[in-house]
Amino acid sequence: MKILLTGATGQLGQSFIARAAEAGHQVTALARSDCDLSQPAALSKIFDQEQPELVVNAAAYTAVDKAESDANTAFAVNAQAVAQLAALCQKHQCPLIHVSTDYVFDGAATTPYQPADKTGPASVYGASKLAGEQAVRQHTEAYLIIRTSWVFSEYGQNFVKTMHRLLTSRDQLSVVSDQLGRPTYAGDLADFILHAAGMIATGRCRWGTYHFSNATTLNWYQFALMIKDALIEAGCRIDTTVSPITTADYPTPARRPAFSVLDCQSTEQAFDYPMPPLAPALATVCKLLNDY
Ligand SMILES: NC(=O)c1ccc[n+]([C@@H]2O[C@H](COP(=O)([O-])OP(=O)(O)OC[C@H]3O[C@@H](n4cnc5c(N)ncnc54)[C@H](OP(=O)(O)O)[C@@H]3O)[C@@H](O)[C@H]2O)c1
Repeated sequence: MKILLTGATGQLGQSFIARAAEAGHQVTALARSDCDLSQPAALSKIFDQEQPELVVNAAAYTAVDKAESDANTAFAVNAQAVAQLAALCQKHQCPLIHVSTDYVFDGAATTPYQPADKTGPASVYGASKLAGEQAVRQHTEAYLIIRTSWVFSEYGQNFVKTMHRLLTSRDQLSVVSDQLGRPTYAGDLADFILHAAGMIATGRCRWGTYHFSNATTLNWYQFALMIKDALIEAGCRIDTTVSPITTADYPTPARRPAFSVLDCQSTEQAFDYPMPPLAPALATVCKLLNDY
């Protein structure tokens, strides 16, 4: 398939490029230097040139705290550019896979969020991503919106890499234990997107909004302990004490959802694709981090 990918330098983008090439797809990967999505005028020409058979939007303004004081840019990238991308997909009769976030929910639930549950973002970032979802639904018909959560990988900035840095340099570490969610390995998400691309290519895809994450629910403190064990298993020497704290002990500019567990059952059924286990993915990343 001829795939046009945005966010080439991001966690998901880099994970996707490697896997899509292996699977024999022809990927045109756009970095910010190819097209700045805060001023996405160049997109139209790129569509004319590339004539993609599928667009994967892995680009996003993901600086959750910075977005609180930079709403214009967050909305430009996460909503206005997405509207333009979706309209171009409709014009070119090209399916769109758009990636969104658990942060579209308010975090007040006590049972896992279903795709159709009421949204209510608690942050500017979440609101901008929700506006992006609405733009996709408004401007094109052949789309998958895939909400994911707590993304980590060997690339870019993420919780696992932060823990690796802190666990290998500090004696003591405090991590919040009152926010519950589901981590997602970007490589597993990329594999799933490629699986969905295969279903699109063979006309077996049901358009709509879906959830994807690895199959473990935990809080950040529990995740930190799991990372510590995986790093030790990978050969890191760690003697750090990890302690639980509350969100109130660790204030951030943007409010984080206390509960952001995505229910992925409809994805498993529609795509015949079980959510992958967390431990092997974490082991892979920790091994790579230890080898660097
Ligand atoms: N990270 C998470 O924990 C998380 C959680 C839930 C959902 N998601 C969603 O998952 C998707 C992938 O996230 P990720 O973790 O791979 O994000 P990421 O590593 O932060 O990568 C974001 C990508 O978007 C690009 N980008 C940002 N602003 C741009 C602009 N103005 N013009 C062009 N490109 C721009 C970045 O380019 P530069 O490298 O030049 O900045 C980068 O390639 C996003 O839709 C995100 O909202 C992420």
